[in-house]
Amino acid sequence: MRIIFAGFGTVGQALIKVLRQDEQRIVQAYGFRPQLTTIVDSQGSCFDEAGLNIPLVLKTKEKYGTVAKYPGSGRRNDDSTRIISDSDAEVVVETTPTNFKDGEPGLSNIKTALSTGKHVVTANKGPLALAMPALLELARHRNRRLCFSGTVGGGTPFLDFAAKCMPGERIARIKGILNGTTNYILTRMENSSLTFQKALAEAQKKGYAEKDPTNDVEGFDTAAKIVIIANWILAKSFSLRDVDITGISKITPRKLRAAQALGVKVKLIGRIEESSASVRPEEIRADDPTCVPDTLNALTFSTEHAGDITLIGPGAGGERTASAIVRDLVSIRKEYAV
Ligand code: HSE
Repeated sequence: MRIIFAGFGTVGQALIKVLRQDEQRIVQAYGFRPQLTTIVDSQGSCFDEAGLNIPLVLKTKEKYGTVAKYPGSGRRNDDSTRIISDSDAEVVVETTPTNFKDGEPGLSNIKTALSTGKHVVTANKGPLALAMPALLELARHRNRRLCFSGTVGGGTPFLDFAAKCMPGERIARIKGILNGTTNYILTRMENSSLTFQKALAEAQKKGYAEKDPTNDVEGFDTAAKIVIIANWILAKSFSLRDVDITGISKITPRKLRAAQALGVKVKLIGRIEESSASVRPEEIRADDPTCVPDTLNALTFSTEHAGDITLIGPGAGGERTASAIVRDLVSIRKEYAV
């Protein structure tokens, strides 16, 4: 399987480390050897048909902040859509930063990849939050996979769990914590009396936050995940405009302590009801299974017959998201033997 990386930040770099570390296990278990032939980052690209030298790629990125300085094939200012369209790789892994205004550059990368016959694995929420139905339609039309496990829950398989493990069951409502950064901030503000800014700086340092952390703290990241879940699991046609969004930037340590004294916690909760969706700080009981600390995510599916089912797991971080991308690559390999 020949792979192009479009985007090479925290997630992309974690992914090649995971692929390298698990190479033997992946070859033995699934019979395929992912081969990274091209990387495009925000400043340039590098290429090797026989497979890029991973340690050298990582060293180059660390030293210069771009793969454009990769010895031999590194180039500055390349156009990612041209590279994707000219390549004969089978899969594009799209991890450019999420942009909720117009979805770019991820949206064009994904459209170009599918239109030129490549499968796509993405961890980028922007294109899906803005144009999920159209992108799924394009993938179906071209008979290619568009996989996005890493967009929701980091490595925790919320999407696959609901889509694959509950056939025949009706999911009436979904609620949960879907943003590791804000959950980390609220936990640190509550337990260690940190200011909002200090807790946010910690979350950024640990690589949980989006490139623009406004998307985390103002609730857009959670809202995008709610849109993806609503479309994929509940067959709704929601976009970001349909979600009523309030973030956590006005929450004070005092409010959190007052809630604590009453046995409740303030969490940024995403909800999907029959015909509405929201993201807002809510007080939830400390013993509610959805009430998880730190960067954990938790999603409760309220089903018609099986009752409430809650899935909990780490929801942010490069390695966690890389794990979801590996799952998607394996799933493409199983279906298409590329
Ligand atoms: N910024 C996101 C979060 C990353 O904190 O949950 C995972 O989507």
